[in-house]
Amino acid sequence: MQIYKLIPVFIIMSIFLGCSKLQKELPQPTSPGTVHNAAWNDTASADFHGKYLKAKNWKKDDCVQCHAVDFSGGTSRISCYDCHNSYPHKKGWIQSDNVFFHGVFLKNNNWDLMSCKICHGIGYDGGSITNVSCMTSGCHLDENQNKKSPEACNTCHGNFSSPENLVVSWAPPRGIDGSTDSTHRSVGAHQVHIATGKLGKNLKCGECHNVPANVFTNGHIDSDLPAEVVMNDTLSRLITANGTLIPNPSFNNSDLKCSNTYCHGNWKLRKAASTNQFGYADSIMVGANFSPKWVGGAVEAACGTCHALPPTGHIASSINACANCHSGVVNNAGVIIDKSKHINGKINVFGQEKWMN
Ligand code: HEC
Ligand code: HEC
Ligand code: HEC
Ligand code: HEC
Ligand code: HEC
Ligand code: HEC
Ligand code: HEC
Repeated sequence: MQIYKLIPVFIIMSIFLGCSKLQKELPQPTSPGTVHNAAWNDTASADFHGKYLKAKNWKKDDCVQCHAVDFSGGTSRISCYDCHNSYPHKKGWIQSDNVFFHGVFLKNNNWDLMSCKICHGIGYDGGSITNVSCMTSGCHLDENQNKKSPEACNTCHGNFSSPENLVVSWAPPRGIDGSTDSTHRSVGAHQVHIATGKLGKNLKCGECHNVPANVFTNGHIDSDLPAEVVMNDTLSRLITANGTLIPNPSFNNSDLKCSNTYCHGNWKLRKAASTNQFGYADSIMVGANFSPKWVGGAVEAACGTCHALPPTGHIASSINACANCHSGVVNNAGVIIDKSKHINGKINVFGQEKWMN
């Protein structure tokens, strides 16, 4: 007998062996034409496909042969992504520079964290379903190795490795798109306003933004970039000139300039209302109402931009003399020595402090 005549027999035998292996491993068909057990898709059943895979330690080799290597359907014509659009996770899912990185997936899918909780648990700790926690070594832990929820305020923007309760770490650098350069609009002058600046009081996020109570608060991730800059709090809107100058601050998200903020000089004082009238050379004293550019760097807040030195309407003084009267704020070299007393909404003169109203 010629050996080639046995080829069909080999083929039939290998199909049979393959199928019997599959039938042993997978739940048995219940009716002709169905590959899987009727309960294969019943989450409550012991035969549920998720439980089957869990018992196999998530090894999906068995599925590949009919559902395709990329799980897009193959000969079964049923794609895993028909039902759970992120699972099986693609290669590159945990590499931050990969197109299939899970952060990129989430960004492209409206930050649908709820879809992850289904399998990873309400608290992202793995739950009872997958036991795969997001908060394990090398993943969502801060620099002190403390667990940090993926919903932490410095997960998607800000400094990822800082403790989640450190507010300054919530703001860029690291914008949503990963940018860290201060010439990028997402980063801009954040840190100088909230922490590292030498000129003025540290601001809270709420001076410029509506701060979400949690990641799902309305108006937060449900709106498209650019971010909303509303300046709704007290400082940038501080009313001066005895209630007559009401600043209407705004941020222009095309030229990236702030206008009409109290902070950058939209203020006025009246001599008639002052207890220190000798400080005035005119009936009013005003700031310079400058419009700084968010990404312009230090020149946007150079000495003299927000108010002249001294301000228009102020008695004459050299920059080295400001300290004689505005002691504790500035020194005789014209350097701000206590930033908590400058751009704080208050007149600081002769060691006293009162509201600029
Ligand atoms: C021998 C081929 C084959 C293998 C192996 C296979 N499947 Fe399927 N699967 C199918 C076919 C065909 C369907 C379409 C529905 C049917 O005929 O049962 C299907 C449907 C499904 C469905 C949808 C069921 C429904 O009720 O809508 C799920 C879920 C599924 N498969 C998961 C898996 C998983 C998980 C694995 C691996 C552990 C796997 N399959 C292995 C062929 C296969
Ligand atoms: C017909 C819909 C459907 C298809 C197709 C499907 N699944 Fe599922 N799968 C579910 C449902 C429903 C759950 C339960 C969790 C949920 O609600 O999303 C689930 C959960 C899982 C889980 C989580 C473990 C668990 O117990 O919940 C794994 C793992 C899983 N599926 C693997 C696969 C794989 C691999 C494929 C493709 C081969 C696949 N599934 C195709 C519907 C489907
Ligand atoms: C249908 C269930 C299911 C859903 C939905 C799901 N996961 Fe998973 N995930 C798993 C399972 C099971 C594993 C463990 C092994 C694996 O990848 O199969 C896992 C592993 C991971 C890992 C670790 C991967 C690795 O290689 O170590 C990350 C990160 C992850 N998931 C993130 C997410 C994110 C983010 C979402 C939401 C967009 C999500 N998962 C949705 C089931 C799921
Ligand atoms: C002085 C005003 C100001 C303060 C204070 C401020 N921001 Fe911003 N923020 C902005 C501006 C301006 C933008 C850029 C808007 C644009 O791109 O049009 C921005 C953008 C953002 C963005 C979007 C980043 C991106 O990728 O586009 C986030 C997130 C953000 N800020 C968070 C914070 C947090 C958190 C704080 C407090 C820790 C804070 N900001 C404090 C002015 C401010
Ligand atoms: C899942 C990712 C994610 C998490 C977690 C997250 N943010 Fe955001 N955040 C975004 C995105 C995306 C934007 C830009 C939205 C836009 O364009 O309005 C944003 C913008 C902001 C802004 C700028 C104002 C705005 O709404 O545009 C502030 C302030 C902010 N987030 C604060 C927070 C705080 C506080 C937390 C924690 C309670 C937090 N974020 C958690 C994704 C996230
Ligand atoms: C970003 C805008 C801005 C810049 C730049 C700025 N100032 Fe001011 N400055 C203000 C505002 C606003 C006030 C009004 C009082 C307040 O809120 O502290 C003020 C008030 C003062 C006062 C009065 C004392 C006080 O705080 O009440 C002195 C002195 C002063 N500035 C000096 C300087 C010097 C010196 C420089 C440069 C090193 C400078 N300023 C740069 C905004 C600015
Ligand atoms: C001789 C004392 C004196 C000197 C020197 C002086 N100031 Fe003043 N300054 C005053 C007085 C008085 C007021 C009015 C305060 C009031 O109305 O209560 C004033 C008001 C101001 C204000 C507005 C209110 C506030 O405190 O923020 C600014 C800004 C200011 N001075 C900046 C300067 C700068 C900059 C210099 C130096 C170039 C300077 N001053 C030098 C006495 C002085």
